[in-house]
Amino acid sequence: MTILGISLTHDGTVSIIKNGKHYFSIAEERLNRRKAYIGFPFEGLRYLINSNIIKPSEIDIVAVSSSVFLKNWAFTFAFQLTENKMYYDLQNEQKPSNFYIHDKEYLEIKTDKDCKAYVDRKIKKLLETVGINCKIQYVDHHLSHAASAYYSSGFNEALSVTMDGEGDLLSATVNICKNGKINKISETSNKHSAGYLYSEVTRRCGYKISRHEGKITGLAAYGDYKKHEECFDNLTSVVNGKLEYKDRVNRSFINKIKNKVLNLIGRNFYMGHQELINRCDTLSNKDLSASIQNHLEKRIVEIIRFWKDKTGIGKIVLSGGIFANVKFNQLISEIEGVDGTYIFPCMGDGGNAYGAAIYTYFKKRDFDPIKNKIQNVYLGPSFDNEYVFNMLKNNDKIEFYKSHNIPQETAQLISEGKIIGWFQGRMEYGPRALGNRSVLASPVDRDINKWLNERMKRTEFMPFAPSCLNEKADEVFELSGEFLKFPAEFMTITFKMKQEWVERAPAVAHIDDTARPQLVTEESNPKYYRLLQEYYKITGLPLIINTSFNVHEEPIVCTPEEGLQPLLNSVIDVFVCEDYICKLK
Ligand SMILES: [Fe+2]
Repeated sequence: MTILGISLTHDGTVSIIKNGKHYFSIAEERLNRRKAYIGFPFEGLRYLINSNIIKPSEIDIVAVSSSVFLKNWAFTFAFQLTENKMYYDLQNEQKPSNFYIHDKEYLEIKTDKDCKAYVDRKIKKLLETVGINCKIQYVDHHLSHAASAYYSSGFNEALSVTMDGEGDLLSATVNICKNGKINKISETSNKHSAGYLYSEVTRRCGYKISRHEGKITGLAAYGDYKKHEECFDNLTSVVNGKLEYKDRVNRSFINKIKNKVLNLIGRNFYMGHQELINRCDTLSNKDLSASIQNHLEKRIVEIIRFWKDKTGIGKIVLSGGIFANVKFNQLISEIEGVDGTYIFPCMGDGGNAYGAAIYTYFKKRDFDPIKNKIQNVYLGPSFDNEYVFNMLKNNDKIEFYKSHNIPQETAQLISEGKIIGWFQGRMEYGPRALGNRSVLASPVDRDINKWLNERMKRTEFMPFAPSCLNEKADEVFELSGEFLKFPAEFMTITFKMKQEWVERAPAVAHIDDTARPQLVTEESNPKYYRLLQEYYKITGLPLIINTSFNVHEEPIVCTPEEGLQPLLNSVIDVFVCEDYICKLK
């Protein structure tokens, strides 16, 4: 059975499941080159068919990760389902003056039923353009999140917690997962969203929401949360294992109207929080970041401890945008009695393409946790040596040769201080570069965070993350349990670094001596593992810097052509693409 999964909210994505196996996934942003693209994955769909990833006739069911279709959302759906629109960032910027959506059919929507029919009609039409004509299943947003984490976790019994800004009217759910069944035991409405609270702080600090939250996590380590802890303690409480805003919105009539008007022009999307944060308006960005990080750490740990105690289940699977926060994940793993944690590597809404598809599959099939356990996230397109050679041969600005020992030669170059653009095999699914579309460098230069970020035109407050040989993890990091190595294969959790290694590899240690490593095993990525082994042989260091292969606000590179560009612009020193080593003349 072949299922095509589609997510059309943040990070629109297509995924293919073949007989329960995760076969292919790609986010729309990697193809249309618009970072964190919101909407239907138009190009992704065409890519699947035109690149012969799958034949239209092979697809049995299409699973879409949305299930609530309110008439009030007609405009949002029209926006998501229109390709030729003047793109604007729904939540951050005012609409451009020439903004329009070609399709005006949404103006006819009068009832929720009309809205569902509209969405269904649009999606059917889009599928027909590539010859797909089959049943469409709509799967709830948070159920898709839960399914993505549970079915790939390798656990037969687990407690699934989903948390995000909002999806299908909810901002969080808790589920007992057992023998292939997902049973929801708690849900939190979008009015009490942890994600939106964090996003509001992101916006308040001058960054883009749903995009730059990681900067706040990094910045938090530089700030002092204690100064305003009491004030922040008043923001929310946990009642029956659910987050509740204590004083959500100034509900005066005038403010309600004001918020409505602001919403209409795309401002103040997260109504209400601004007023809460104004209480602490004198805070610096650092202290504000530290305060919100600390506040939500306490609340999220409390929520998960509550449900772990209530259900007696110590294996926790996490998904939803909130769990992009590597610090939350570390603290959850350290809760007493937790003996397994897994964060779905594509934890945001892009993960729901897989989640909706895998849920649809296991609704009708028996579940085998071991057979379905995630192997790796290398699920995107790849390009062979012949393709790479043909691309490189016509460029007169570069010189290149084919290496017979790419891992060894690359390790040597890194040990000489070179910045490497490393492009190998299939592109990663999810936000992290895990050694197939990565920029690699030596971890010994304390100042590299400044100059390399400048060179890559980025502002980051977290240091670069390291990739580390899995078998050396205990030497470098303080791991409180063997089970923590599994989530760390996907760079979804932070650890304290041992003091010796903070000194030996200062470029990857944060100001609080933590790092968010990718632990690399031979099984998950043999070529990258060999590179790390070779580097270890040369330097005695079992870790290197691994940062995503992109510059500034661009999505991670997808094709060799995109990978070559940073070399031509001198952002990287060497481009290692499949078996070719390439430098500027
Ligand atoms: Fe979500």
